[in-house]
Amino acid sequence: MASQTMKAVNYVGPHKVKVEEVSKPKIEHPDDIIVKVTTSAICGSDLHMYEGRTAAEPGITFGHENMGIVEELGEGVTLLQKGDRVVMPFNVADGRCRNCEEGKTAFCTGVNPGFAGGAYGYVAMGPYRGGKLPRCAASSSKDGMLTFPQGQAQYIRIPYADFNALKLPPGKEHEADFILLADIFPTGWHGVEISGFQPGESIAVFGAGPVGLMAAYSAVLRGASNVFVVDRVPERLAAAAKINAIPIDFSKGDAVEQIIKANGGEVDRSVDAVGYQAVGSGGNKEEPNIVLENMIKVTRACGGLGIPGLYCNVKSYNRYLRDLIIAGRAKPSFVVSHEIGIEDAEVAYEKFDKRIDGYTKVLIHPNGGF
Ligand SMILES: NC(=O)c1ccc[n+]([C@@H]2O[C@H](COP(=O)([O-])OP(=O)(O)OC[C@H]3O[C@@H](n4cnc5c(N)ncnc54)[C@H](O)[C@@H]3O)[C@@H](O)[C@H]2O)c1
Ligand SMILES: [Zn+2]
Repeated sequence: MASQTMKAVNYVGPHKVKVEEVSKPKIEHPDDIIVKVTTSAICGSDLHMYEGRTAAEPGITFGHENMGIVEELGEGVTLLQKGDRVVMPFNVADGRCRNCEEGKTAFCTGVNPGFAGGAYGYVAMGPYRGGKLPRCAASSSKDGMLTFPQGQAQYIRIPYADFNALKLPPGKEHEADFILLADIFPTGWHGVEISGFQPGESIAVFGAGPVGLMAAYSAVLRGASNVFVVDRVPERLAAAAKINAIPIDFSKGDAVEQIIKANGGEVDRSVDAVGYQAVGSGGNKEEPNIVLENMIKVTRACGGLGIPGLYCNVKSYNRYLRDLIIAGRAKPSFVVSHEIGIEDAEVAYEKFDKRIDGYTKVLIHPNGGF
């Protein structure tokens, strides 16, 4: 009989994760599938939990950016077959509530009682944790927060699988591109979209983390005239330059002034891909408002600001971005800096958190093979 346990990346406490043996998820509902995870990525949002900035409880398994091979199917699943290669949006959505019907899958009201929106392996995003909890039964922590299945593990249970799993071509090709469809490529694209961007316009993206680089890349793909990318981390600015964006180092002078000078005036659009951990030019003091203030200063009157925050309706974009990858027109994997086995996850979290050794985007292959 196959093993009933698997390896998973679990949160131990601030600045500590551990690879532990946990029970394997099971089909709990006819609409579920079990996916053998080929790739699960570490995200900037995982670091918020890793750093102890959230109500994440010790023992939660991380991982909301997941892809793999369908291993087992509930009897209600009609669109998928055993052996299919799939990628899941980080949001878990039921596909049947009013918000899902309207395409707002980030705000699904059916997966997470009393809350709009659910995600895998993320604090406060639902009962999908480890596949052990009953469907839609909230597991409350001491703060009344909910926890959800995980992906930084060898297997994951996908609820409402026909709706949540996007089919990919078989094989191993484009693995590092397709995994980015779970979150950061759609999120970056969404940031550009909600800025109101039109082809030919200029755009400034604040933050050259994975999301910022994806926003800049989306603007390049969508025909921007000038794309500026602001950060202070040299490897990240170098990655921006690789896709023909113009790197702006805010540790070397005011970002707004540098952009206006290089662009010959204000830009048409700007995107916030930093979030609440924005720092001042010195790099050590957090200034949560600085990016919004700079966006307002650098964007022309009647231009637009794109602030994706934590909510992106991944399903509005993932199918089309998948097809750009298959057609060879998009290759977002240029952001991937490291690919590791699950046993190296502890070290990778530490280095990624410190943004050292060029850690930009880390892909975990929990079952090896890449
Ligand atoms: N689905 C979603 O909606 C979604 C998904 C992933 C991430 N996010 C959010 O998007 C944000 C970015 O994610 P990420 O993974 O790229 O994060 P990240 O932390 O890797 O990157 C942020 C970058 O911003 C830079 N930065 C800090 N202060 C700055 C400033 N004043 N001006 C310009 N750059 C500055 C940092 O040096 C860093 O490289 C985070 O807040 C994250 O929570 C949202
Ligand atoms: Zn993510």
